[in-house]
Amino acid sequence: MTAPALESTVQALLASGKGILAADESFPTIENRFKALNISSTEENRGAYREMLFTTPRLSEFISGVILFDETVRQRMAHGVPIPIPAALTQRGMIPGIKVDKGTAYLANFPCEKITQGLDGLRDRLIEYRELGARFTKWRAVIAIGEHLPTRTCIEANANALALFAALSQEAGLVPIVEPEILMNGSHTIARCEEVTNATLKSVFGALFEYRVVLEQMLLKTGMVLSGRECPQQADIAEVAEATLRCFRRAVPAAVPGIVFLSGGQSDEVATRRLNAICKTGDVPWKLSFSFGRALQSPALKIWKGSPANAEAAQAALYHRAKCNGFALQGKYFAQMENTKINV
Ligand code: 13P
Repeated sequence: MTAPALESTVQALLASGKGILAADESFPTIENRFKALNISSTEENRGAYREMLFTTPRLSEFISGVILFDETVRQRMAHGVPIPIPAALTQRGMIPGIKVDKGTAYLANFPCEKITQGLDGLRDRLIEYRELGARFTKWRAVIAIGEHLPTRTCIEANANALALFAALSQEAGLVPIVEPEILMNGSHTIARCEEVTNATLKSVFGALFEYRVVLEQMLLKTGMVLSGRECPQQADIAEVAEATLRCFRRAVPAAVPGIVFLSGGQSDEVATRRLNAICKTGDVPWKLSFSFGRALQSPALKIWKGSPANAEAAQAALYHRAKCNGFALQGKYFAQMENTKINV
C-alpha cells in the first residue's frame, strides 16, 4: 500500500467521534473472561461472541475499526452469508485490524518484567494478514511499576521490539498501532506513573526514530496517567487529565496523528469520564480517541453469557458504551447518559 493509503487508513480510524473496538483477546485472556461467567471457551463460542459484537446495529456510528485476534481474522460469519469476518466488518463500515504480537514472556535475568514475543516470522505473517483483509496492526508491550521497576533494560528491549514491529508493518502496507501499556497494578502514585510513562514514551519514540518509522503513518496506543490501583491516594479526574496531557506533550512528537487510549482495567464508566475530561481540555497537536477492550465489552459480555437469546440486549449495551465514548471524544459525555450511579 502507498503512503497516502496508509495515511487515509489513519485518518479513517481517527474519524471524529469514533474510536476502535479492541476484540483481540488471546486464548488465555478470553478463557479467563468467559470462565468468570461460566461460558466455555470453544472456537464456536468465541466466534459467536465476536459475531454478536460485530453485528451490533449502527455500531459504525461510533466505532471506526476493530482489532481482531488471529483466530477471528480467519473465521466466517455463522449467520447469513458466510463471508469472512474482515469483509463483514468492512461491509459494516468498520476497518479490520489484527493483533500481531504473540503475548509476553518473562525477560531473561529480569524476573518480574516481561518482553513481548512475535518478531520471528512476522514479515510473512503480515503479508498473510493483509491478504486476509487487515488494514492495521497492533503490538502490545507491558511495563510494570514496582519498587525497582521498570528497569531501563526492560523499557529499551520493548521499545526496540515495538519499533521493529512498526517498521515491518509499514513495509507490508499496514498501519501499526504501537502500544506500550504501563500497568495499573501496584500502589504507586500518579506522579510515579507519569514519570514511568514519560520515560517509556521517550524510549519508544527514540527507537521509532532509529528504525525510520514514519510517524505520520502510525498510531500510539497507551494508557491514561493514573494512580496505581492500590495507591491510597487516588488522583481525581482533573489531575488525571492534567497529568496525562502534560506527559504526552513532553514525550509524543506532534507528527503522530493520533493517540488512542486503552482502558487497562478501569471500570467502563470511569474510563469514559476520564476520557471525556482529557478530550474536553483540547488544545493538543494529535487527535485523541479510544481503543478500549474491557471498557467497551464488559457490560455486553455480562449480559450475553453465551446465550443467543441475550444477543440483542448485549448489543444494546455495547452500542451504549460506544456511544458514551464517542460523546466523550467531543467532551460531551454527561453522567446522566448512564442509568447507574458513578463512583470514582
Ligand atoms: P483494555 O481496554 O481492556 O485494556 O484492552 C485494550 C487492549 O487492546 C489491550 O491490548
